[in-house]
Amino acid sequence: MGEALLSRLLDRGLYQAEAILVCDRAPDRLLQLQQQYGVKTSTSNAEAMAAEVVMLAIKPQVLDKVAAQLNETNSVKSKSLIVSILAGVPLARLEAAFPENPVVRTMPNTPATVGAGMSAIAPGAKVTPDHLKTARNIFEAVGQVVDIPENLMDAVTGLSGSGPAFVALFIEALADGGVKAGLPRAIAAQLALQTVLGSAQLLQDSQLHPAQLKDRVTSPGGTTIAGVAALEDKGLRSAVIEAVYAAYRRSRELGH
Ligand SMILES: NC(=O)c1ccc[n+]([C@@H]2O[C@H](COP(=O)([O-])OP(=O)(O)OC[C@H]3O[C@@H](n4cnc5c(N)ncnc54)[C@H](OP(=O)(O)O)[C@@H]3O)[C@@H](O)[C@H]2O)c1
Repeated sequence: MGEALLSRLLDRGLYQAEAILVCDRAPDRLLQLQQQYGVKTSTSNAEAMAAEVVMLAIKPQVLDKVAAQLNETNSVKSKSLIVSILAGVPLARLEAAFPENPVVRTMPNTPATVGAGMSAIAPGAKVTPDHLKTARNIFEAVGQVVDIPENLMDAVTGLSGSGPAFVALFIEALADGGVKAGLPRAIAAQLALQTVLGSAQLLQDSQLHPAQLKDRVTSPGGTTIAGVAALEDKGLRSAVIEAVYAAYRRSRELGH
């Protein structure tokens, strides 16, 4: 996720490569990033310069260790904006780890790696409108952004965070249905993927309500209404609602 952000920020010209220092513990990885993007690199978090923005793209389990390294060396200036993409780590914990800094908690999703992400951002107590704008600019480089209060972050995790897996399951099932009806696997997979992509694109471009799109495709006594009835019979809607809710509940459990 860190590399996805890095690559898009550079592509978009939001930051120059020379202005970015990437820290990682793996020298091979850093060499690759340095060769590919021309950024400065370091294996020592202690070398993280006093930057305008410090992006935390580490696993939640190593937060305390990394925060201690940054604070110990005073490499994080009190004015540095800390931006966290750590799933499930609350602002209270981030603010305790960086008591002097403004902190923004964010939740991007995997489509961010292809520039089609959905990110939510929640500001901590010390965050100014300018800080929020900086954070928003960063995540707009990898897709769309919504501002939310932190108490909605678990719901965001359940929907846009876990959603790509739910959609992947649907696409796979759509292709399986095609195979069951006699299509070769490769063609079924192509049809399924493009149907989901195209329908989402159509909904976005036309601003139609999903129900309107469904109504437009279902002719009386036709094929689509027969399929829609089968989906309703098997409880697709309630299955999806429950999936988002289960992911939300699990996110709450993990964060407490
Ligand atoms: N992937 C997603 O879709 C997604 C979505 C939302 C939020 N997130 C959050 O994004 C964060 C990163 O996730 P990811 O999937 O991108 O994981 P990842 O690919 O494993 O990236 C984590 C990176 O941090 C490095 N790292 C580990 N310990 C470090 C240390 N002590 N100092 C400096 N760097 C260190 C890792 O290096 P090593 O490889 O050597 O361990 C790795 O390069 C997580 O907190 C996750 O919750 C991810």
